[in-house]
Amino acid sequence: MKFIIGNWKMNGSKEEKESMLKSLKGLKTKNKVVLCLPFTLLCGENHGITIGAQDVSNHDNGAYTGDISAKMLKDTGAEYVIVGHSERRLYHFETNEIVKQKATMAIKNGIIPIVCIGETMEEKNSGHTIAVIKKMLLESIPDSGEYIVAYEPRWAIGTGLTPSESEIVTAVKSVFDALPNPMPILYGGSVNADNAQDIVSIPYVDGLLIGGASLKSDTFLPIIKSVK
Ligand code: 13P
Repeated sequence: MKFIIGNWKMNGSKEEKESMLKSLKGLKTKNKVVLCLPFTLLCGENHGITIGAQDVSNHDNGAYTGDISAKMLKDTGAEYVIVGHSERRLYHFETNEIVKQKATMAIKNGIIPIVCIGETMEEKNSGHTIAVIKKMLLESIPDSGEYIVAYEPRWAIGTGLTPSESEIVTAVKSVFDALPNPMPILYGGSVNADNAQDIVSIPYVDGLLIGGASLKSDTFLPIIKSVK
């Protein structure tokens, strides 16, 4: 069983959600499919499909206008939440410390956090990938509980570029070796139906985190079907 997790980012209407869930419902797969939707689409009928969110507050409750707590997420039926995605680290200045607090808050409320890490192109080109992702990992993961790690090189997100097989195995193995307890490790960044099966066949890769190609059933379903 591999994880195939879609991240819709800031995309999607009620109608598009309904249409995607209906096509997923009829699909026979041994993979664990999860759809991480924007907050606006979390409530409502999910047709038995596992739903996740894309962010969560690092606070319990209170005067944090616009934020959504882990308890509120739980209330919607969300079972997973992405924390520390590079777009949130970049545009919302989320530090490893905040990401760890968010992951911890999710676990406390019975939601599995998907902790994202990944290097920039400059860090890769200067040979610092492993040092960078290890530091991000160890400072971002919760002290206990069940979580998932997603290795998403920033330069591979939405660019059509992917690391080589040996680059992925080196990075993902370093995550595996650094984890205090074994947890699933995903790869994310420009995954499509042509590269999905090759990427999940790489040692230590337990699944995929998919952005653009998860938005439409004619690109998402072929990925799910291609992953054996
Ligand atoms: P793309 O699949 O669009 O490159 O996005 C990856 C991603 O950021 C998933 O979280």
